[in-house]
Amino acid sequence: MLEQIVTPLLSWYDKHARVLPWREDTAAYRVWVSEIMLQQTRVEAVKPFFERFIKALPDVQALSEAPEDELLKLWEGLGYYNRVRNMQKAARVIVSEYGGDFPADYEKLLSLPGLGHYTAGAVSSIAFGIPMPAVDGNVLRVLSRVTASYEDVLKQSVKTAMEAEVKKIIPADRAGDFNQALIEIGAIVCVPNGKAKCEICPLAFLCEAYKKGIVDELPKKKVK
Ligand code: ADE
Repeated sequence: MLEQIVTPLLSWYDKHARVLPWREDTAAYRVWVSEIMLQQTRVEAVKPFFERFIKALPDVQALSEAPEDELLKLWEGLGYYNRVRNMQKAARVIVSEYGGDFPADYEKLLSLPGLGHYTAGAVSSIAFGIPMPAVDGNVLRVLSRVTASYEDVLKQSVKTAMEAEVKKIIPADRAGDFNQALIEIGAIVCVPNGKAKCEICPLAFLCEAYKKGIVDELPKKKVK
């Protein structure tokens, strides 16, 4: 069922994916920095911060050694400073435990400071091609609609179930593209607030919410 989204979604992504700085070179460090920034800030706003950060601190080693004032300056305007502090903690672990190279292993990534399921999945799949899910708010919205699910996406159990569904269908040869395609379609087509562009959506033909006319009712967000 859900597996039917794979081919049309990837074809759409091949044609319509935005050209973004962190997609040109998918080294783990770059993917990680971009994903942390994107958790709190919109794509257009992240671009200049990303370029500046990568220029100033081009690799894990540089980040691990950066003085705190430089770190905070580079993050100024993004907010949530604990994120960049955690990034430096993670960088120090990567240097001491893994010789400065990101481990190509989902569980090892997940155990680093500041990396949750989403970030570990994004780095695993985009940088290393490991078929693990990266389910953020965009993806939860897309999946709720495609399956016409009224389940509360703020519930951890619902997120976990959606991650399990995605994991079953991730194509082994294009794991990173598939995850980014889900994020992308949620960001530019299957958008919230009554603005979904179903008329151009490559998944509309199989979208249960579209068929039922309930796209704008989903996803449901009740309580944590
Ligand atoms: N939002 C979160 N991750 C993203 C990515 N890799 N590309 C675009 N938007 C995103």
